Amino acid sequence: MSPSQQRISRRIGAIAESATLAVDAKAKALKAQGRPVIGFGAGEPDFPTPDYIVAAAAEALENPANFRYSPAAGQPKLRAAIARATARDSGWEVADSQVLVTNGGKQAVYQAFQTVVDDGDDVLLPAPYWTTYPEAIRLAGGNPVEVFAGAEDDYKVTPEKLEAAWTPRTRALLFCSPSNPTGAVYTAEETRAIGEWAAAKGIFVISDEIYQHLTYDGVEFVSMAQAVPELHENLILVNGVAKTYAMTGWRVGWLVGPQDVVKAATNLQSHLSSNVNNVAQAAALAALEGPLDQVDAMREAFDRRRRTIVEGLNAIDGVNCPVPTGAFYAYPDVTGLLGREFDGVRPETSAELAELILEKAEVAVVPGEAFGPSGYLRLSYALGDDDLAEGLARLQKFLGGKN
Ligand SMILES: Cc1ncc(COP(=O)(O)O)c(C=O)c1O
Repeated sequence: MSPSQQRISRRIGAIAESATLAVDAKAKALKAQGRPVIGFGAGEPDFPTPDYIVAAAAEALENPANFRYSPAAGQPKLRAAIARATARDSGWEVADSQVLVTNGGKQAVYQAFQTVVDDGDDVLLPAPYWTTYPEAIRLAGGNPVEVFAGAEDDYKVTPEKLEAAWTPRTRALLFCSPSNPTGAVYTAEETRAIGEWAAAKGIFVISDEIYQHLTYDGVEFVSMAQAVPELHENLILVNGVAKTYAMTGWRVGWLVGPQDVVKAATNLQSHLSSNVNNVAQAAALAALEGPLDQVDAMREAFDRRRRTIVEGLNAIDGVNCPVPTGAFYAYPDVTGLLGREFDGVRPETSAELAELILEKAEVAVVPGEAFGPSGYLRLSYALGDDDLAEGLARLQKFLGGKN
């Protein structure tokens, strides 16, 4: 290798570390040093995986068939259960062959872009966006085209905003509702308007529904699949068990789409990772076939914490936190805090503010820069009630309450 050659490929060298995982790692490292850090960083429920799901995994460990390779697209029973769940929860009747089981929703996102995006294609990306999307788009050779909607728009884009960003090179739209990082949920009408616009343009829609069971205040989740049936030939749903069943570490997700897309994505997976761990697939099957009552209990806890966090954040002078109606994130606009002095330091960006809050108040939050423009923080409220109260008290003390 000549000295002028770079050791890491341009494609991979350009990837940034996942900012949310980085904040979490930093908080855990400080904790390991004995600092009492409270983490609002990680997007994972603090509940254990329900017992009946764990029991199904334990049983699967006893079956030697699970020690072997299985079909790359997923265990037939799980694909069938996902097809049923898609009909029940997303209003789309699909064949089992339209389902691909992946290593978490994250791999489904990656494979969806790899499968439909070519070099130089534009992909419309509503911002603030989940931090993985732009990297997955770039890895597929595409250009993420950010379409921003701020707190004043309830963090929701419209067909007009999308139209302004559309070019003849636009190949796909990423749609995420309920949203990570903002917690915004599009209404049925808003979803329909965007889906109809996309259908008229003939572009793909990749719709990430991983938070579909977590909505509050009576807000109803309506899938893009149900809202715009004419989009089905160009629609890819992404989903998984991580958030709904407190199963982040089990790594089971899926994508659902038209036959040709799923077949091509399966070919990719057959070379990339083959089948998802059979024991984890058995656990996911138990989750999907089981009742949703434990999910309801978790949602109630999240709902209580949501109200506490929004109230606590809005009590800080310079913070404007719209009420999120889905997922488990609050996304306050903190532009009012930038340029002010805290403990002798004047943060000019939300990244500097987050750094300062971690260092001085021992509270981990993710800066808006991880999800789009500066000026925002993301706080996950999927942490215990006591930590939540203590974390808010520290933030209020450090940043100052409203007079
Ligand atoms: C919007 C969104 N989609 C997909 C995922 C992927 O979840 P997993 O890979 O854990 O199934 C996440 C996880 O944070 C997410 O927030």
